[in-house]
Amino acid sequence: MKEHYDVVIIGGGIIGHAISYYLNESSVRAIVIEKHASGSKATKAAAGMLGVHTEHRASDAYHQFCQHSRDLYQDLSKELHELTAINIGLSPFGMMEIAMDETHKKELLEKKHAFTSLEWLEAKQVRGKIPALPPEFSGALFMTKDGHVEPAATCEALKRAALLYGGDLLENTNVLEVTKTEDIFTVQLENASVTASQVVAASGADSERWFKATGMDNPIVPVKGECFSIKPGKHYFKEALFFKDFYIVPKPDGRYIAGATSKPNDLSSDTMAGGLADLMHRVFAVFPDLKEEPMQEFWSGVRPGSADGLPIIGEHPTLTGFYFATGHYRNGILLAPATGQMIKDLITKQDVHQPFQELFSPERLDRKGASNYEYSS
Ligand code: FAD
Ligand code: GLY
Repeated sequence: MKEHYDVVIIGGGIIGHAISYYLNESSVRAIVIEKHASGSKATKAAAGMLGVHTEHRASDAYHQFCQHSRDLYQDLSKELHELTAINIGLSPFGMMEIAMDETHKKELLEKKHAFTSLEWLEAKQVRGKIPALPPEFSGALFMTKDGHVEPAATCEALKRAALLYGGDLLENTNVLEVTKTEDIFTVQLENASVTASQVVAASGADSERWFKATGMDNPIVPVKGECFSIKPGKHYFKEALFFKDFYIVPKPDGRYIAGATSKPNDLSSDTMAGGLADLMHRVFAVFPDLKEEPMQEFWSGVRPGSADGLPIIGEHPTLTGFYFATGHYRNGILLAPATGQMIKDLITKQDVHQPFQELFSPERLDRKGASNYEYSS
């Protein structure tokens, strides 16, 4: 560890490492400081979907940001592979949102109308791809470009690539406090300190403290999610499947990840039997055959939600040089590349698309009426 860095990034999840990757690639010397092991919190729990059209449904600036980030993955996966030899598992098979009844079908057809690049598949066409689906479903929206990645591999590749570009990393180290004197930040660790010209808080669901410590209201809403995986001996489908109340993501190594519960304000790391039972009930009601397949693993993670449901990406309103990159809720894997690039552009004073700056600015959270997002359980 050096005594001074251009940028200290607090938190080594996928967001912190994406920021480090883009900064160090641009010759801005950044260190990631991570309390545990890199990628071991929400990042490790994620299914990795690039759910541009499933997690957010409106055609607006947030949708553009999601799409931009998804598209960045095309070149990023190649660059990361060239640099680190890690395959981040970018799926070319797309996602399907399955209509299980006529009301859902109507909603999906409206979505198709709003996003002309999406395809509508009639039930017969879907069954050709996924014979295991039950007879009563009525078609699917096919999002050919919205695949998925392997979150842990992506985080690891970003971490190693940033190090190859000259970055630094300190794991198993808790950042305790940040103070600023004149233009320099002092970042206090347990047994040492380091100085930086700029600081980025990318601490996921634990970001609350950085808002409070810098005089802002806490906008972070932790939302626990529980998942399980099975590893069948045979192949069921290639596309990630999204239903109204669950999803299944087939991974290149043969695992099928099923997710996820949603438990607002639950910061615990326990995977509850009841949560898993509910999820299994929903999955097996549609795919009874999967009951006979070997269970592989179950786990949970805490999504970093925010008061208005949108990420918080930008500079502190009054503490110049202190940035936030958190609140990515259900989309942190999707949004890691665009977030990393945006923070790099802000720090290096490049142009940043104005609507994105406004949409994600930390300042918006202190404005009246911003805290209105309802987290479902
Ligand atoms: P984290 O990965 O939690 O990283 C933050 C890091 O900061 C942690 O490692 C923590 O130890 C560290 N930290 C905190 N405080 C300190 C401190 N004081 N000092 C040092 N380090 C500190 N997103 C998608 O895009 N697609 C999906 O399919 C998807 N599926 C999901 C499924 C589940 C079940 C869950 C729980 C989440 C899912 N997500 C998905 C959301 C995604 O996982 C998160 O949005 C994303 O991982 C957030 O990344 P992060 O780096 O901000 O947080
Ligand atoms: N994006 C899927 C989840 O958060 O569960």
